[in-house]
Amino acid sequence: MNKKYDFDQLIDRQGSGSVMYDMRQAMFGRDDVLPLWVADMGFAACPEITQSLAERVTGHPIYGYSVPLEDYWQSIIDWQRERNGLEFTIDEACFIGGIVHGFALAINHFTRPGDKVVIQEPVYHPFRNVITGNNRLVVNNALKRTGDGFYEMDLEDLERIFETQRPRMMVLCNPHNPIGIAWPADVQRQVAALARRYGVIVFSDEIHGDLVLKGHRHTSFLTVSDDAREVGVIMGAPSKTFNIAGIVSSWCVIKNPDLRRPFFNWLVINDECSPNFLAMTATRAAYRHGAEWLGQCLEYIEGNIDMVADYCREHIPGIRAIKPQASFLVWLDCSALGLEHDALIDLFVNKARIGLNDGAMFGKAGNGFMRLNVAVPRATLRQAMQQLADAVLTLSNP
Ligand SMILES: Cc1ncc(COP(=O)(O)O)c(C=O)c1O
Repeated sequence: MNKKYDFDQLIDRQGSGSVMYDMRQAMFGRDDVLPLWVADMGFAACPEITQSLAERVTGHPIYGYSVPLEDYWQSIIDWQRERNGLEFTIDEACFIGGIVHGFALAINHFTRPGDKVVIQEPVYHPFRNVITGNNRLVVNNALKRTGDGFYEMDLEDLERIFETQRPRMMVLCNPHNPIGIAWPADVQRQVAALARRYGVIVFSDEIHGDLVLKGHRHTSFLTVSDDAREVGVIMGAPSKTFNIAGIVSSWCVIKNPDLRRPFFNWLVINDECSPNFLAMTATRAAYRHGAEWLGQCLEYIEGNIDMVADYCREHIPGIRAIKPQASFLVWLDCSALGLEHDALIDLFVNKARIGLNDGAMFGKAGNGFMRLNVAVPRATLRQAMQQLADAVLTLSNP
């Protein structure tokens, strides 16, 4: 019989060292907001993961230096092959302690100070911070809005950038955070062809890849063409998928040996590829036993996304929810409210008392938008939407 997981359970996270809750004062200037910002879930992690961690911690009392056993890698390889059609060998993969950290390592290894790196704003903000913080230069190949209010890649502008600015690397956020775009294979194929022609390495961040929603699929960059396998460095993780970001476990796959060997050697020398034993335990349990939990979790998230979109349509016409194709993040178009940036933040934080990510954080094109994390119990989300609707009403009835 199928097990039913409980995503309605309300879990108090305050004081548990959670970024989402315990950094509210620093993030919003007050600690009484209902937080729906940083991208982890308000659901208990898959119980099969919890159980295997408990068994390892209590069942074996030595926590010494650890080495990945073959089944750790095999669980990642099997999952990627079965779900995403991505094939690779253990030799082509390496452990990475977090994807932002892995991106910083890739920037330091593959580029030099002053090199240009392309990002596609609005996009996950640490990309810009890591690039500029390491004295490299950001070139923005901005996403274009389509007629129906969604977004697409501007491939003409990308080619112009490759030709005239000669960047060393491009970041493909695949799927794309904050909008939740599951990039189609043909778009990725064109990116790969251009990148190969102009000698650009493509860093594909696939952390949201297993969170594709109904009617969409995740296409790993390494599956799209020979060009992609020549220029691609991809990183992925079970962290977002199974709500185990605090465990810190990610992986990198590179097909091209000329890129892979020097990078992996450099990582080994710097002791960057040794997973701790809890990361290995949780990762293996997630990929071996987490599929059913994930299926139910995604269904619950779809229900939450629909609820938010319907709620905005019916009660907050000035805000439009752009439904993601992947991930539990919803990009809210608040431009019809006609508020300046500070007034929009004031509306959410001080009037509605809800803590979301400010869209402008993801680049200038994010002005007038907010990013809402809907991976929380539905009752919490409903409360947040009600608070928002009430706050918007005060704008017309001051
Ligand atoms: C696109 C993207 N990459 C990376 C991360 C963070 O990954 P990690 O916690 O492994 O550094 C996030 C988290 O929100 C993300 O959205």
